[in-house]
Amino acid sequence: MTDNSSALRNIPPYIYGTTRLGDEKIPRAERLKVARAAMDAGVWFHTSRMYGDALEVLGEAFAERPAKIPRLIIKIGWDNIGQLRGVIEENLKPLGLKGMQLGQLCLGGELAEDYARGGDCYRVFRQLKDEGLVQGYVVEAFPWTSEQSVKALRGGYTDGIVDGFIFYLNPLQRFASNALWDEIIARNQPVIAMRTVSGGPVHSLRDVPGFAWKDYLQKRAVQVAPIFERSGIKSWTEFCVRFAHSFPQVKATVGSTARIENLDAFLAAKEKIEPLPGGIVQEIQALQYQWSDELDLQAEPWSM
Ligand SMILES: NC(=O)c1ccc[n+]([C@@H]2O[C@H](COP(=O)([O-])OP(=O)(O)OC[C@H]3O[C@@H](n4cnc5c(N)ncnc54)[C@H](OP(=O)(O)O)[C@@H]3O)[C@@H](O)[C@H]2O)c1
Repeated sequence: MTDNSSALRNIPPYIYGTTRLGDEKIPRAERLKVARAAMDAGVWFHTSRMYGDALEVLGEAFAERPAKIPRLIIKIGWDNIGQLRGVIEENLKPLGLKGMQLGQLCLGGELAEDYARGGDCYRVFRQLKDEGLVQGYVVEAFPWTSEQSVKALRGGYTDGIVDGFIFYLNPLQRFASNALWDEIIARNQPVIAMRTVSGGPVHSLRDVPGFAWKDYLQKRAVQVAPIFERSGIKSWTEFCVRFAHSFPQVKATVGSTARIENLDAFLAAKEKIEPLPGGIVQEIQALQYQWSDELDLQAEPWSM
């Protein structure tokens, strides 16, 4: 992985996440409207077959305005090499596209083991790239999958083929384990930070019963809200975009919304990105190191 790798070189600092485009409780016409507005803004999109009918909504918007089709990061994987091509096709077909900018490698089972030991998967990643289906790769990390990435990095297997990392990185979550995070910083690896606003405004996460989808997020909001308040920054979205970009390794942050006004908040925040004051970043980082050891690494896979 290199910092100037071609697949990430021109990535804009905010990426529109499309989870909310697949929420069938929201009228389809409204979801299309937000998709079109994000296309007009010229940002990259992040998507997956797992987000309800988001791919179909996007396919419709793309067919209407082919000139505005964004660059895309799409989740691909899963448990063995043989699945990769089919997963790519099941995403590209509804989008009406022939390739994607970045494949987000979601690695489980024998595919994860193969990745950690420098196996055949790297040959297949190159083949898919040579065929133009995927122009580059970022590898997903969770606390329970961080170890395989540490092994692959230390083995040097990812060099020249995997362009960077992608994981939850926001004021309430840093899903690379402490060991992986330290490697990423030491080796200056590019990162795409996910879940920009940690799922919503910090005061709602702290105060509104049931707003945080897991208890630990509510507890973390109690710890982070005073730090946010002390910063004097009015907008949680601005605070979060600046938090992600306080790390030089972070090239972009992925946030989702089904509302034009919240999309506008993301777009406004990306126009004036300054790192947060060092003291604030250090305070949150100290919490994240502690959370990682005390909870993230102890948690059952996929439980958080
Ligand atoms: N493993 C993975 O690959 C993975 C996992 C999770 C997420 N992601 C990616 O990251 C993206 C973002 O993740 P996420 O949706 O979980 O988290 P997020 O972007 O932190 O939060 C989105 C939530 O925050 C609300 N929101 C956004 N801006 C707001 C604002 N200015 N004021 C108030 N509320 C606001 C949205 O509601 P409204 O729609 O009502 O605005 C939505 O409920 C996803 O779309 C996806 O592309 C990937």
